[in-house]
Amino acid sequence: MSEMKEKLLARFGEVFGDAEGAKVYFAPGRVNLIGEHTDYNGGHVFPCALTIGTYGVARKREDDKLQFISMNFEELGVIESSLKEFVPGGDKNWTAYPKGVMWAFEQKGMKMPAGLDLLLFGNIPNGSGLSSSASVEVLTGFILRDLFGFDVTNQDLALIGQFSENRYNLVNCGIMDQFAIAMGKKDHAIFLDTATLQYEYAPIHLDGAKIVISCSNKKRGLGDSKYNERRSECETALAELQKVVNVKSLGELDEAAFEKYKGAIGDEIRRKRAKHAVYENQRTIKAVAALKAGKLEEFGQLMNASHVSLRDDYEVTGKELDTLAEEAWKVPGVIGARMTGAGFGGCSVSIVKEEAVENFIRSVGEAYEKKIGYAADFYVVDIGDGPAVL
Ligand code: GLA
Repeated sequence: MSEMKEKLLARFGEVFGDAEGAKVYFAPGRVNLIGEHTDYNGGHVFPCALTIGTYGVARKREDDKLQFISMNFEELGVIESSLKEFVPGGDKNWTAYPKGVMWAFEQKGMKMPAGLDLLLFGNIPNGSGLSSSASVEVLTGFILRDLFGFDVTNQDLALIGQFSENRYNLVNCGIMDQFAIAMGKKDHAIFLDTATLQYEYAPIHLDGAKIVISCSNKKRGLGDSKYNERRSECETALAELQKVVNVKSLGELDEAAFEKYKGAIGDEIRRKRAKHAVYENQRTIKAVAALKAGKLEEFGQLMNASHVSLRDDYEVTGKELDTLAEEAWKVPGVIGARMTGAGFGGCSVSIVKEEAVENFIRSVGEAYEKKIGYAADFYVVDIGDGPAVL
């Protein structure tokens, strides 16, 4: 038995009396390589699952009680609830995520026949933008399927996770995070068309380069960010465009079509938001083609351009993420660097030649601390599989 599994079962036993019949699960976090703020605009994304994520130990109960404990929030102790206590928007702590998924299953006609004891432990840095919440959502769905035999695919787990985030946790997120996690594949990124949910696995051969995550340590949560505001700016821009062109989403436009019709958008800010959504989608398509053709340099350039667009047109970066990306661009051996995830804090993702990683971490780390006043954290990550029973 792995050391991690042993540690988790031991803690479960301490908290819930014994670990008899308890099973151990894992769901990854994710990082998006390119295609940001395109998933709710009918565009493409290119994320991958990580080998870091959320571990869960779960056991069915005889009654309808729910007992939760997180090893990341030990100070909260055991949090008790029940299958009768699902209140959308009403939970004040992390249990809102697993409860949201249980509620979502019930909404979809899959009511849990019994309660659960559930212990969680995550090794994704909290609030880092590597989707710790989507990881918990997919993990919970995976556990419910395994314990109660619900007839759902991994893709369904992604959709149920998103539904719970939208309707129980009241964040209007797209499908990218839950999809990347539920459908993750080792050493592959997922080229997903969010308009149709058609997807393709693309092997990530980086010629020895590494994926480095730089964590700004500026905490963010989607709820308190301007995420929903950006989303509605795009919806308004789309409605304006639809008066002059027949499209269902911004993702249906290419650059030329956007330039032709953009005058229909009545406000400069909304024009910039829509421009980002359109151009970022096209960049993502080009980036995947470049990667497939072995043109890693071009892929990196498109990552850099993505950051500039998120900084200048979509305005979701902020000085922390700008410092991380701009300092990364200066370091020899950096193929590309950009913010990743929703923005406003969280992380950047950089592709760095192996021999340059040490210098990257030192140079970017020093410049960041000098400018921002506190340190960033760096993680060299690997691309892993989707959820699993351990
Ligand atoms: C968050 C959301 C995703 C996506 C990204 C931005 O991670 O959960 O659906 O919109 O932001 O690309």
